[in-house]
Amino acid sequence: MSETMQPKILVTGGAGFIGSHTVVDLVENGYEPILVDDFSNSEHSVLAGLEAICGRRLHCHKVDCRDRAGLTNLFESEGPITGVIHFAASKAVSESQDKPLMYYGNNLGSLITLLEVMGEFGVRDLVFSSSCTVYGQPKKLPVTEETPVAEAASVYGATKQIGENILRDLIASAAPHRIMLLRYFNPIGAHPSALIGELPLGAPQNLAPLILQSAAGMRGPIQIFGDDWDTPDGTCIRDYIHVLDLAAAHVKGLAWMAGQSEAPLLEVLNVGTGRGTSVKEALEAFERATGRPIEYEVGPRRPGDIEKIYADCERVERVLGWSATRSIEDAMRDAWAWQEALGGR
Ligand code: UD1
Repeated sequence: MSETMQPKILVTGGAGFIGSHTVVDLVENGYEPILVDDFSNSEHSVLAGLEAICGRRLHCHKVDCRDRAGLTNLFESEGPITGVIHFAASKAVSESQDKPLMYYGNNLGSLITLLEVMGEFGVRDLVFSSSCTVYGQPKKLPVTEETPVAEAASVYGATKQIGENILRDLIASAAPHRIMLLRYFNPIGAHPSALIGELPLGAPQNLAPLILQSAAGMRGPIQIFGDDWDTPDGTCIRDYIHVLDLAAAHVKGLAWMAGQSEAPLLEVLNVGTGRGTSVKEALEAFERATGRPIEYEVGPRRPGDIEKIYADCERVERVLGWSATRSIEDAMRDAWAWQEALGGR
């Protein structure tokens, strides 16, 4: 197939952590990704890594998705666009509490503007980044897509819930879209080439980048946020998924939507591994995968933390024929190679 015949997929936040890995999967599956990023939380150097992995030039535009004229230009100049994967959003939980207007403005403003421009250009298919944060602390585990949505524990979480509601209401209005909400569990890891990975700008808050920086000697021991939770080893349980597995779910999602005859259509899928891993087990997985010891101290619980959550993946397996293929050790090994490539950054 010549390059010009490949379906063009707009990837907002395409230079970000999950976005960049999804770009690789799109190229491997015969799509032409068009990257859009405002580079507020990513770097231009990501593009060089992506082009080295993909072995070709990629189209990347510096546009804030709230910029209607900028987006319209892009749809015009790059068109026709077959579908959109919308990652672009601010995602730091504590920052969202300090800057609620910024989070609501950015995460919801960009979604609404994007949907309006998609409507104008007749682009139907959208994959939306949602989060397992919408479930809060579920009463029953594992969580299925029918598990009730809980009151949001942060402004960030609220933007994901409201984003989901906006998309539901759009579908209810009979707008001819096909929309897939992917509720991510905890993405970790990096591309095994160590050419792209998670680039924490500023001090990381999430466990995996903290483990990497601690192992690299860039910070002290890991602070475990409590070991008195009601779990086998007393530390919180999460469902850690390799970012490449997560990326693959998006590309399968696009293909699935393209094969559906009906619109409007809304599909909600959990994307995890189905396995719960405690904080201590995550540290052990890193040690096993890399042979490097991790020091930790047990500190107080983090306010707002969830005790345990992991996905029921039956629906995503049935609908997309997708399941995670990589282990947490694979993810830790790949992430560590990336950290080494970063060389102290
Ligand atoms: C957090 C957000 C979630 C967001 C996700 C993005 C909360 C409550 N949830 O999820 O909305 O989608 O990040 O990846 O903030 N931990 C430590 N020490 C640390 C850091 C983390 O023990 O220094 C523990 C946490 O208690 C938790 C686990 O590691 O049990 C994972 O934490 P983290 O990476 O921050 O992710 P989540 O809390 O699951």
